[in-house]
Amino acid sequence: MTARRALITGITGQDGSYLAEFLLQQGYAVVGMVRRASTEPFERIAHLRERITLKPADLLDQASLIHLVREVRPHEIYNLASQSFVPTSWEQAVLTAEFTAVGVTRLLEAIRLVDPGIRVYQASTSEIFGKAQEVPQHERTPFYPRSPYGVAKLYGHWITVNYRESYGLFACSGILFNHESPRRGKEFVSRKVTDGVARIKHGLATELKLGNLDARRDWGYAGDYVKAMWLMLQQESPDDYVIATGETHSVRELVQIAFARAGLNWRAHVVEDLALKRPAEVDLLQGDASKAKRVLGWQPEVGFRELIEMMVDADIERYAEALPGSGRSGGR
Ligand code: NAP
Ligand code: GDD
Repeated sequence: MTARRALITGITGQDGSYLAEFLLQQGYAVVGMVRRASTEPFERIAHLRERITLKPADLLDQASLIHLVREVRPHEIYNLASQSFVPTSWEQAVLTAEFTAVGVTRLLEAIRLVDPGIRVYQASTSEIFGKAQEVPQHERTPFYPRSPYGVAKLYGHWITVNYRESYGLFACSGILFNHESPRRGKEFVSRKVTDGVARIKHGLATELKLGNLDARRDWGYAGDYVKAMWLMLQQESPDDYVIATGETHSVRELVQIAFARAGLNWRAHVVEDLALKRPAEVDLLQGDASKAKRVLGWQPEVGFRELIEMMVDADIERYAEALPGSGRSGGR
């Protein structure tokens, strides 16, 4: 029997790398869409390079998407590509909308034109709840995005629902709450903190500048969340699901756990920097994933403390390997 084929946009990102690993374990032939760069941004998938195929295309370019879908003819498409850093969305609001909003329509159009039987997953986000209208947030909670990124993602969410209702596409929107890992980009707060802790521990820095310590998020582990994406596409009918742990913690709690893991007192190192505060903040996210638990049989396995400690340990190890005289090489 020939393997099922999955196409992942955003395969070079955090989630793309975990999803590719997971789909390979399930026996899929995995194709990743990558955009051209003058250097190879393939750090997170270096260990998978021999087992996956990479193909060029861009969410900004309609024809490239049609050609790609026609060439690969995947059974499933996971649309993870986007400009995903919230602060950048104020600096590059139009570009964020092009990738993160209209890019979804371009991909759905390619699917509709080439093969409407392809199942598609859209990476939606808890940022669409923004100024949360209720706690916890679930699939029927009203949306109130608070950044150009959140607004663009809300468009991506609704166009996915619309193509499902207009054309009968098997299109699912996963409303995923924050999820992290040792592969998280260093600009996001969890990794910024765990990387900062590791640098301080190794004597490479003495302080860590942070913005709003009072913001609360529902943080889970990326390795758990990619399984939910796959489960959504294995159901009899398409639907949208909240994926979350159900717990909320402040940035301050995250900082305390991370510094304590390294035997450091966070108050001696963390400096509040007003410039890192956002023009409009999302104060509190806490998800209710009971629908995913009931229908998909999904639940998170890695808890908040375990996640942050895993990330601190990985960053401390990473610097230990890289520092001169360690006699070690390689990375995670
Ligand atoms: P990430 O690490 O920032 O990865 C983003 C990916 O998108 C990268 O592979 C990037 O490629 C690619 N990309 C960006 N613009 C593109 C374009 N124009 N054409 C093709 N590829 C493009 O993000 P992540 O954390 O893995 O998140 C995956 C998706 O889930 C994103 O859509 C994000 O918005 C969404 N999401 C994330 C979370 C979370 O907590 N992680 C929660 C909810 C939703 P390059 O390597 O070339 O830059
Ligand atoms: N990045 C960052 N840097 N955030 C900080 C800092 C800092 O120095 N100091 C405090 N924060 C606060 C932010 O103000 C925000 O309230 C919170 O930490 C989390 O910020 P991020 O880690 O940047 O994530 P996010 O919640 O804005 O967005 C992430 O999660 C979304 C899902 O809710 C991204 O992965 C999005 O792509 C994703 O959709």
